[in-house]
Amino acid sequence: MAYVGGKGNCFTRVIGAMPRHTVYIETHLGGGAVMRAKRPAPRQIGIDADERVIACWRERGAPCELVHGDAIAFLKQFQFTGGELVYADPPYPAEVRSGSYRYRHDYREEDHAELLELLASLSCHVLISGQPSRLYNEKLIAWRCMEFGSGGRRGGRRELLWANFSEPLTLHEPAKAGATFRDRERSKRRLSTIQRKVERMGAAERTLFVEWLAATYPGHVKRLENEIA
Ligand SMILES: C[S@@+](CC[C@H](N)C(=O)[O-])C[C@H]1O[C@@H](n2cnc3c(N)ncnc32)[C@H](O)[C@@H]1O
Repeated sequence: MAYVGGKGNCFTRVIGAMPRHTVYIETHLGGGAVMRAKRPAPRQIGIDADERVIACWRERGAPCELVHGDAIAFLKQFQFTGGELVYADPPYPAEVRSGSYRYRHDYREEDHAELLELLASLSCHVLISGQPSRLYNEKLIAWRCMEFGSGGRRGGRRELLWANFSEPLTLHEPAKAGATFRDRERSKRRLSTIQRKVERMGAAERTLFVEWLAATYPGHVKRLENEIA
C-alpha cells in the first residue's frame, strides 16, 4: 500500500519522537508505515475511512485493532485515560499538494479545522504529521514543531511533525531517536562503550556511579520508577 504522503521514508523520525504510551491510536492509517515499524504498545488501534485500506490490512494481518470509519467520530467517542498516544497523518490540505491526486476519502478545509481543534482538546499525547500550510501553522502555533525531509537520502519534501508535549524524558523507542541513521549508529556505539565500562566496574564503583546518575538525572529516574511500578 504505497500512499501519497505515506511515511515510508520518515517513519523512524516519527517513532523516535514518541513518548512512552500504553495505547497507540493511528487515526489515518493508509499504508501505516509508522504502525508497521513501531514497537507495539499493549493496545493499538488503526482507523481509516477507506474500506479498501481496511480490507488490505485484514488480508495481510494487522498489528492493531482495525476500525473502518471516520477519525473524528472515533476520537469523539473514545474514553481517554491519559496513557494514549494519538498519531494523525491526515490527507494533505489542497494548498500543499504538488499534483492533482485525490484520496478516495479526502478532507475539505473545514474537516482539517475540525480535526485540529479536536486533537488540540484531547487529554493525552498527540503527534500530527503534515507539511507547512497556512491552516496548520495557524492552528498549531503553540505546539512543538519538528522538521525533516521525507525523501530519505534524496532529500525531498519538508515534512513537519507537531507535538502537544515537550521533549519527552522517556521515549517509546529510544533507539530510533536521532536525525539520521549515522546519528543512531553513533549513539548505539557510545552506549555500548559505556555499558562495557559499567560492566567492568566493581560493586562499590557501580553503586557510586548509579548514585551519581540518580542525583544528576532525578526526573529520568522518577519517570522510569513510575512506569515500572
Ligand atoms: C496521508 S494518508 C496516510 C498515510 C499513512 N501514514 C502511510 O504511511 O501510508 C491519509 C489516509 O487518511 C484516510 N482518510 C481520509 N479521510 C479520513 C477520515 N475522515 N477518517 C479516517 N481516515 C481518513 C485516507 O483513506 C488515507 O488512507
